[in-house]
Amino acid sequence: MRLPEFFQFHVPTKIIFGEGVASDFSVELEEMGVEKPLIVTDKIIEKLGLVDYVVKGLKENGTEIGGIFNEVPQDSSVSVVNKIAELYKKNDCDGFIAIGGGSVIDSVKGANIVAGAGGDLVKDHSGAQTLIHPLKPLIVIPTTAGTGSEVTTAAVIYNEETHTKMEFVDRFLPASLAVLDPNMTKTLPPKITAATGMDALTHAIEAFVDVDATPLSDMYAEEAMRIIVSHLVNACKNGEDVEERGWMMLGATIAGAAFSHSECGVVHGIAHSLGGLLRVPHGVANAIVLPFGMKYNLPVREERFSKIAKIFGVYDDNLSPLENGKRAIQYIKSLKEELKEVAGLPTKLSEVGVSEKDFPEIIKKTLIDGTSIYNPREETEEGVLEILKNAF
Ligand SMILES: [Fe+2]
Repeated sequence: MRLPEFFQFHVPTKIIFGEGVASDFSVELEEMGVEKPLIVTDKIIEKLGLVDYVVKGLKENGTEIGGIFNEVPQDSSVSVVNKIAELYKKNDCDGFIAIGGGSVIDSVKGANIVAGAGGDLVKDHSGAQTLIHPLKPLIVIPTTAGTGSEVTTAAVIYNEETHTKMEFVDRFLPASLAVLDPNMTKTLPPKITAATGMDALTHAIEAFVDVDATPLSDMYAEEAMRIIVSHLVNACKNGEDVEERGWMMLGATIAGAAFSHSECGVVHGIAHSLGGLLRVPHGVANAIVLPFGMKYNLPVREERFSKIAKIFGVYDDNLSPLENGKRAIQYIKSLKEELKEVAGLPTKLSEVGVSEKDFPEIIKKTLIDGTSIYNPREETEEGVLEILKNAF
């Protein structure tokens, strides 16, 4: 790989990690000048007691809670984003605390755009780099190890009117503070652990082969791959194991930093389409499509996939880069089978409500998805169809 002519790398998020940190980070709020945060979460997280765990610690340290919004659905949507922003303004809050997975975090990022910059989310802020100044303080406490959204410059929000997953990208979108507490993921069921973990692994792999990969994003992507393949199956098998959960949280965050700089590719493009059109959960869609997206990109990234084989521990000195690349793909296929066995993760599109008559619409949406310009091999109608057929 030649050095790129120009690149930048910027991870502005302060990260605190440790068992129990989510129940005691008042000193951080004080430093940020946040006195009345709005907490945003979903009903399941609240029912699991994870909101109480955070709120109890904050109250004990004298923080006033500006309100709790617990109505974020599985896929964050424009109307939910607007409701959060309204509550934030109505209650006169001075910062956001997101407790949840990708949907909660991205909803809060959207609400932060509306509350912090004003205007209409869709009309004024669609696309990239529309913000001209920093937003409100944003604290993210992930309850999954997958999205990495706490450190990324992107938010994906479902537009109910167009049935499309819209992407917002801006340098002011990463969280001010990420609170990584393995205790927050201990109750995550094996299937969601597997799906979100595969999302994180897809971030790392796509970041590593994409056109915008740089030596710095590579460093993060490689380490994220190493960590995730070493700990994902164990985290599914032993959910209470704080060590495994902790590694997965780190792996997901590191993968987030990687893809926030070199972006994702065709696997995410298809996953966004499957999510927007058929509500297939993001991690499940990525897991199903990943090896076939890799296969499509292999001819133009043999050396890179060969390196991935090395990271996965399946590299063979006597084989060509192409053959080693195939071994990396085979490793992912085997990992999917293992996750199906230990966590019930679906492995085919036909298992998640996709039918062949949906292919034309999926292809259409994939080819115009924001990720398509970063995929290392040009995305074509025939190419995406081939991936879908293989994944079916
Ligand atoms: Fe993702």
